[in-house]
Amino acid sequence: MNHQKPIIAGNFKSNLTRSEVLKYAKALENLPTNHASVYIFPTHTALLENHFKHLHIGAQNAFPAINGSFTGEITLSHLQEFHITSLIIGHSERRTLLGESQDFINEKFRFYEKERFTIFYCIGESLAIRKNGKNAVNDYLASQLEGINVDYENLVIAYEPIWAIGTGISAGLEEIESTLTYLCELTPAPLLYGGSVNANNAEEILGLESVGGVLVGSASLEISSFSGIINAALKS
Ligand code: PGA
Repeated sequence: MNHQKPIIAGNFKSNLTRSEVLKYAKALENLPTNHASVYIFPTHTALLENHFKHLHIGAQNAFPAINGSFTGEITLSHLQEFHITSLIIGHSERRTLLGESQDFINEKFRFYEKERFTIFYCIGESLAIRKNGKNAVNDYLASQLEGINVDYENLVIAYEPIWAIGTGISAGLEEIESTLTYLCELTPAPLLYGGSVNANNAEEILGLESVGGVLVGSASLEISSFSGIINAALKS
């Protein structure tokens, strides 16, 4: 792991209700987490005022506008009301399930960059691309960074191979290290790994030289496993 505080981020996706998130955040606030920068990304209806001392609340998605006629979307003004300044952009579920194009992702990025948000920008290849070898993976990841200001100071990049998300099988340490070593050449941003990170494998993943933290889905839903991952950051 590099020398900055590791970033441990939980993406709750469409899980946990507002009352569950409130209970979770209060419990997390009382854990010893000073050695890490801890973020949670609840679903929109469960967003909480970002006033916790030991964790940041971020949004999983937002439309690139202050407000307006964008049925079903939330916008900057909604996030500002909660003092939220962290946002996930480009998650593979939005790219694949919701058809977000690189152009639209670029538009979101530019809008929230201007607002000085901390942007967790996600990239990652499918299994078919991984099977074509390292160069194919690297070219694909580079294409997902097209149009993105990779020197933006509040940028965090999460490398999340699609085949490792929610499958229980994380990428191998060697694959993570070599991919992140390549990404280091493209951007000075901290690099996270995501894809089936859990309390058992977090320590070795966080121990990798190029890894600046982890983005966690399933294993962030229970505070016991998420806190296990936070503790792993202390040991690695
Ligand atoms: P997972 O999800 O930890 O359940 O694999 C990671 C993510 O999608 O961010």
